[in-house]
Amino acid sequence: MSRIALVTGGSRGIGAAISKTLQDKGYTVAATYAGNDDAAVKFTEETGIKTFKWNVADYEASKAGIEKVEAELGPIEVVVANAGITRDAPFHKMTPDQWNEVIATNLTGVFNTIHPVWPGMRERKFGRIVVISSINGQKGQFAQVNYAATKAGDLGIVKSLAQEGARAGITANAVCPGYIATDMVMAVPEKVRESIIAQIPAGRLGEPEEIARAVAFLVSDDAGFINGSTISANGAQFVV
Ligand SMILES: NC(=O)c1ccc[n+]([C@@H]2O[C@H](COP(=O)([O-])OP(=O)(O)OC[C@H]3O[C@@H](n4cnc5c(N)ncnc54)[C@H](OP(=O)(O)O)[C@@H]3O)[C@@H](O)[C@H]2O)c1
Repeated sequence: MSRIALVTGGSRGIGAAISKTLQDKGYTVAATYAGNDDAAVKFTEETGIKTFKWNVADYEASKAGIEKVEAELGPIEVVVANAGITRDAPFHKMTPDQWNEVIATNLTGVFNTIHPVWPGMRERKFGRIVVISSINGQKGQFAQVNYAATKAGDLGIVKSLAQEGARAGITANAVCPGYIATDMVMAVPEKVRESIIAQIPAGRLGEPEEIARAVAFLVSDDAGFINGSTISANGAQFVV
């Protein structure tokens, strides 16, 4: 029987590539999204992957959404916490709203996604968790105090979960993408994008599928002893 995989923010960008790659590898995928119904409908039409709408920043909505996915598809064995946002501003101009929104989605959202599935994984003695962090959580970034704080925090989450889950057959790892050609990056002004590419030794942006393949490896049976790790996929822009 195929394993059930939940991918938050799985209808667009990196998440969509992860959903499709896992489907290709035989998983039954549930992809979540926040509000872009058109993109979700199109994604389901193109892939046959079911989409579910809830705000990862809301614990009760996440819990109810996860219960719905499990009722429809079965117990979730793989979780990819991918949903994330940016609200960039230099620190002296950053508003409390910009701080709170990013913390709620990128950090609390990861708690809200993993916490409801954790007891089932412990009972079944199997689980695979991957959190999509960021190069900017590893190195910091101008105008991203909020975002970098969440992405660094995501690394703390997986390192701690790895230690708690290891005896129960659960692994938790992170992938830190560099700059990937998705809506999030294509939304920045072209001049800024060119200056970003100039800083990448590979001389190009990454492709969403390059992140998806790293995730597919981490959730596979082959990666059972890889726990609490961070895979950087950034074209050598930042070497840890
Ligand atoms: N792109 C990059 O270069 C890059 C680099 C490093 C790390 N990352 C990280 O990779 C992840 C995916 O980024 P991306 O570029 O693929 O983003 P994206 O193209 O903007 O897609 C974001 C996805 O997350 C969903 N989402 C956003 N906020 C949500 C919320 N509160 N609740 C539920 N779903 C929510 C969106 O749903 P809707 O479609 O409904 O809006 C969408 O499906 C993020 O965590 C990001 O921080 C990206």
